[in-house]
Amino acid sequence: MVQSPAKPKLLGGRADKRFTYDLWMEEQGLPIYRGYYIEDLRTIDLKLWDLRGCKTAFVQLMGMEGVNECRVSEIAPGETLPPFKLEIDEIVYVLQGRGLTTVWRGKDGAKRTFEWQPHSMFLIPRGYHHQISNTRGDQPVRLLHYNYLPVVMSAVDDPKFFFDNPYERPDEMDEESMYAEAKVMADDTGTLGPRNMWYGNFFPDMRAWDKLDPFRGRGAGGHVVFIQFAGSPMWCHMSVFPAKTYKKAHRHGPGRAIVIPGGEGYSIMWQEGQEKVVVNWHEASLFTPPGGWFHQHFNVGGTPGRYLALHPMHQFAGHSEQVADRARDQIEYPQEDPWIREKFEGEMAKRNLTSVMPDGAYRDLNFEWDYSKA
Ligand SMILES: [Fe+2]
Repeated sequence: MVQSPAKPKLLGGRADKRFTYDLWMEEQGLPIYRGYYIEDLRTIDLKLWDLRGCKTAFVQLMGMEGVNECRVSEIAPGETLPPFKLEIDEIVYVLQGRGLTTVWRGKDGAKRTFEWQPHSMFLIPRGYHHQISNTRGDQPVRLLHYNYLPVVMSAVDDPKFFFDNPYERPDEMDEESMYAEAKVMADDTGTLGPRNMWYGNFFPDMRAWDKLDPFRGRGAGGHVVFIQFAGSPMWCHMSVFPAKTYKKAHRHGPGRAIVIPGGEGYSIMWQEGQEKVVVNWHEASLFTPPGGWFHQHFNVGGTPGRYLALHPMHQFAGHSEQVADRARDQIEYPQEDPWIREKFEGEMAKRNLTSVMPDGAYRDLNFEWDYSKA
């Protein structure tokens, strides 16, 4: 006799575009921040989350589109959070404060502890227990967490699989060097040619990181570092570009969470032929260009601008989704809407600054930038 099926759960794939992850996120009873951007992650309101034992808020911006989770958590002065084990890798970026993270595998595995500060970035490996402490007595810690939970929850719709799973990860990581200094490797898998890839899972200060390579092709004499987290499919990059310049507009897929380690500027985001959205940014701002939207970054400060882009799964790279010609995913300066340059020069003037964009860049499609200035 055929058993009647279990009562179906109404999750995912629905007309309202709320995925399993969204329904789970809403059940947690925490603040959820939406829209195009958050100007300062250090000041948004959070609420105690029983699951993790700390104040937390979720962030699902327009461009995240169920591709990545972003969460902000806070640890009170002097406090240590309860141990936790997550079955997927998670990137943590330190927005504010100083502390320690301890990770270990299995019930009695050797503990690795490392110390972090503002603008540190580290990976918490899947299947490892971890515990986070605020080592200062006078200031709360604020952390930004990034992972692929929205995608994997659409495949396995049981949160306990990710948060309360007795499975212990086999000994496969190089634990001796887990949080050692990052190493550079040659990478020939990039779509724009060979590049350097930094491999590691602890980066002490993204605001001070100076091992950068010229990012030829995106203009403004900008530099870049690509990072592959050790033993993980997760990766990211950080761009650094000079004061009083701006980069070329380009587009790709959703889910790149951009957090700002330093600098002052704005970005413009738009869908081809549609109204433009302006995102103002400075330290600890967060935004995500929606999939297939053009976006362009402008530095209106007196110091180099830095943006750290945490990447989604490779499936979401999304180049050339709407047009056959890959070159159509970038707009060269001579071909941009004249309003782009006018607005930039106007913003500079408001600050008593002058654009240092060379005239030649607006005339010559093959303009050669000077990459000697970071
Ligand atoms: Fe981009």
